[in-house]
Amino acid sequence: MVKKYIMTPGPTPISEDVLIEHGKPLMHHRSPEFGKIFSEVTEKLKKLLKTKNDVFILTASGTGAMETAITNSFKKGDKVLVASIGNFGERFKKISLVYGLEVISLDYEWGEVADPGDIKKILDKEKDIKGVMAQFSETSTGALNDIMAMGKIVKDYPALFIVDAISGLAASDFDTDGWGIDIVIGGSQKGISAPTGIAFVSISEKAWKAIEVSDIPRFYFDLRAAKAALQKNQTPWTPGISIIVAMNKALDLLLEEGIENVFTRHRILAMATQEAAIALGLEFLVAEPGQRGFSVTAIKVPGGIDGKELVKIMRVKYGVTIAGGQGKISGKIIRIGHLGYVGMFDVITAISALEMALADLNYDFEIGAGITAAQKVFNENNYLDK
Ligand SMILES: Cc1ncc(COP(=O)(O)O)c(C=O)c1O
Repeated sequence: MVKKYIMTPGPTPISEDVLIEHGKPLMHHRSPEFGKIFSEVTEKLKKLLKTKNDVFILTASGTGAMETAITNSFKKGDKVLVASIGNFGERFKKISLVYGLEVISLDYEWGEVADPGDIKKILDKEKDIKGVMAQFSETSTGALNDIMAMGKIVKDYPALFIVDAISGLAASDFDTDGWGIDIVIGGSQKGISAPTGIAFVSISEKAWKAIEVSDIPRFYFDLRAAKAALQKNQTPWTPGISIIVAMNKALDLLLEEGIENVFTRHRILAMATQEAAIALGLEFLVAEPGQRGFSVTAIKVPGGIDGKELVKIMRVKYGVTIAGGQGKISGKIIRIGHLGYVGMFDVITAISALEMALADLNYDFEIGAGITAAQKVFNENNYLDK
């Protein structure tokens, strides 16, 4: 038997309580029972997002919500600015191009964050930009953009600010209304720790004005249909009923823990992972400590070691699934997810498997150094899984 652990930045581990909800007999999506749960989930998502804006639950993965944001907000040929710090920034560009938008790319090295000042310079120069898009946590690199600073800038321009917060939500504080974000995108399978298959978007009044005049073809993801259905606590089409029921429980667990405590937990889990990596003599993709997010830690694979082999040994031999590098940094980094239903012993297990796999690959280090460093972080912070 190889016991399995999932330590990726999505999907994330799911608690037994949530799995039990997910496994309950199906209710009909037009029934009052489901309507009640649907409205509860919507309200809890608003709490998580810190918003009074409309929130729409979509049956799709996160990419479906990215597509929804783009197809509903613009007219064909509109100019948009994408601040790209990694693979998911590139995805914003690809979707925008597919739907005939003109994309201005503001690209950074993978491992860096976007400079809000650069966004301001471009907005000052190109007065007809209709939207600015950025990631909160860029999952492919582990970097965390300063969305608050960007929001302060974009709110003074006509452009909509669209933020993919899919992997950052519940790991780091996110204040939709306080930061002036027009559209926030999230998913079920990340910090919320529910099954995969549900995404959601919050829509500001400013965004609604754009949605009403947008001329990009869309049907399944038409937010006007979603808005009409929301009046009856429903979705226009058959939703992922069991996933939404599971999310209701998962959101309860987050709110019971206390959202600020959830952020603290993620910060300490990230610190423990970082200290372990340092003790093993490893380097980070995000060089600047203050720019590292709390959802996932991206670690450079040491010279002479095959990154794909390292991930494979951890998964196949030791049962611990972590993520490798995406796109142009495939094989060059490993990514340890510490997002969602994760406690200190998950991190210790992942570090232990990493050490054992590194030893298998003849990497020169002191076995146990990583685990010791992680334990020290938990002890020093008086950390207990609660
Ligand atoms: C930041 C970010 N954006 C978008 C996505 C795409 O989401 P999905 O794979 O659910 O379509 C992911 C998923 O990993 C993500 O982490």
